Amino acid sequence: MADFVVTPWEVRGSVDYDELVRQFGTQRLDGGLAERLARTAGESHFMLRRNVFFSHRDLPQFLDAVERGRKVALYTGRGPSGSTHLGHLMPWVFTKYLQDAFGCELYFQMTDDEKYLFKENLTREETLAYARENALDLAALGFKPDKTKIIIDTQAIKRLYPLALDVAKKTTLSTARAIFGFDNSTNIGSVFFTSVQSAPALLPSVLEREKTGKKNAVVPVLIPCAIDQDPHFRLTRDVSDKLGYPKPALVHTRFLPSLRGGEKMSASDAESSIYTTDTPEDAERKVMRAFTGGRATVEEQRRLGGDPEVCSVCNYLKMFFEPDDAKLAERLRAYRAGEILDGENKQYLAGKVTAFLKEHQRKREQARKTIDKFFWEG
Ligand code: TRP
Repeated sequence: MADFVVTPWEVRGSVDYDELVRQFGTQRLDGGLAERLARTAGESHFMLRRNVFFSHRDLPQFLDAVERGRKVALYTGRGPSGSTHLGHLMPWVFTKYLQDAFGCELYFQMTDDEKYLFKENLTREETLAYARENALDLAALGFKPDKTKIIIDTQAIKRLYPLALDVAKKTTLSTARAIFGFDNSTNIGSVFFTSVQSAPALLPSVLEREKTGKKNAVVPVLIPCAIDQDPHFRLTRDVSDKLGYPKPALVHTRFLPSLRGGEKMSASDAESSIYTTDTPEDAERKVMRAFTGGRATVEEQRRLGGDPEVCSVCNYLKMFFEPDDAKLAERLRAYRAGEILDGENKQYLAGKVTAFLKEHQRKREQARKTIDKFFWEG
């Protein structure tokens, strides 16, 4: 039995990503396919080369469409239950790369409804406020309003609802229970919610049909997301066929590990993750206290070397902060050889993190002026 759990509502234990590919029935994204994506995109991305995006569904079919010059779209999203942390930014950075490469539209869903339904302690007003706040992080990453539609569920529901209904009508309670593990105590809004998350995957085709008058027009969609969102889209893919839409393709990312060791940054432990709203001083403190792959003593670490695999500092560099392959390889080698100790490695990461945060926060504040241009209500 696997001793980890990955669902859209909970990630627990030490995730075995190979096992997850088997459990979920996805395909590995490696070797030739990763290269093909880079070729189609015109350039590679370090998250691809390092297998941070490690799994997919129907990516080759999506790339066929891109290569044939067809209109395509990207779709991703965020459950606005608090401030944005670096683990959330990871798939968005990759999405930006894909959008720039394909020159296509991005549909970005803010599920304020979901977080209201699933989180005991949040009001509707709070999840809506977080949706607007989290949107600033997208603008700060450089997404442009003319190609990016941010869809806040409660605000854009008029356009989502007909599609959500189509999906809901084709989804039985027993399917939803089997996929999500709902039981008799689940509120009924939660049961319906997955059809709301399906809607933006169908929306690009609907808008194309409206625009061109062609009743059967289809726009292939690619969804970059963390692997925990896959269960929703399994359902979307099952019904989209029946509804006359293409199945959305997916690329899945691993989780950015917790700074305290263990698998995923946790919203309930502020020390385990770095928020985009942390002061550079707070972020530096978190890095300096991070869990590492070091040894009990300096002498031992010089003699035996550190273990980059379990080291959250090394993993932050690998997955987010050191895009330069040669620099990363040299640093990891030196760490393994005991030439670099934890203090220095942490300092190096802290420098990268604080520089990133300062720049991100400047752009984030600037974005307050223009953010309304991103919100799409149909
Ligand atoms: N349910 C997601 C979350 O809690 C938010 C989301 C909505 C999403 N649509 C998406 C994430 C599409 C990835 C892709 O974070």
